[in-house]
Amino acid sequence: MRLLFMGPPGVGKGTQAKRFAHERGLCHISTGDMLRQAVQRGTPAGLQAKPVMERGALVSDALVLELVDERLGEPDAAAGFILDGYPRNPRQAADLARLLEQRGEGLDAVVALTMDVEHIVPRLSGRRSCPECGAVYHVSGNPPKEPGRCDRDRAELVQRPDDQEDVIRDRMATYVEQTAPLIAFYRDAGLLRGVSCEGSVDDVAARLSAVLGAAAA
Ligand code: AP5
Repeated sequence: MRLLFMGPPGVGKGTQAKRFAHERGLCHISTGDMLRQAVQRGTPAGLQAKPVMERGALVSDALVLELVDERLGEPDAAAGFILDGYPRNPRQAADLARLLEQRGEGLDAVVALTMDVEHIVPRLSGRRSCPECGAVYHVSGNPPKEPGRCDRDRAELVQRPDDQEDVIRDRMATYVEQTAPLIAFYRDAGLLRGVSCEGSVDDVAARLSAVLGAAAA
């Protein structure tokens, strides 16, 4: 299966993509995670991306294309993948179409995850992540067993620098302006499936499995 998950910041793309990828043996490819790793390692790509991510804008199309191209070429991506957070504007959608065409591949489905806009800030301001393994929690909606500590490795959980309220609003504006128009593009291509992200993580996962059942067949 080759899938694309899209939706506004904080809707639950990463949470659901990681879980679905694990259940189905797919490769989870998150451009946000790859960029954060580059920032953490201080690579040239990371140095370029850091100030852009801190203000909630999109990093350059060329930079993310290079990351995605390289990642899709790794052996585990041959078994299928979920692209999480890519593409994010029409130019990136065209780049992806070209990349997949060169590889003789196509997308099976594009999942648009949706949520009422007023839930976005509470979801993101309560997010905590593990700096060691990347596990994602929410202080009330998806809490770790021990407050502030990762269930897997007990590392101290941290808050993402772009999860401050003013940056969340800028990320949301970037999404509305640049990414949301892709929903119509993929609907016209006959690939779009909508999934509501209201309710618990398990509720959303069940809806997603039902919606993707046909694509998995
Ligand atoms: P990215 O990391 O992709 O951020 P985003 O799109 O803003 O999405 P998030 O990761 O914030 O949210 P999510 O939808 O994955 O939600 P999550 O599952 O964590 O990108 C970051 C930045 O990198 C961008 O701003 C940009 O600068 C750059 N970038 C990335 N890709 C790029 C590209 N292609 N081009 C250019 N620039 C790019 O869930 C959120 C919280 O809610 C968590 O705490 C979670 O535990 C909780 N939660 C989830 N589901 C539920 C539920 N059902 N009930 C209760 N809590 C829940």
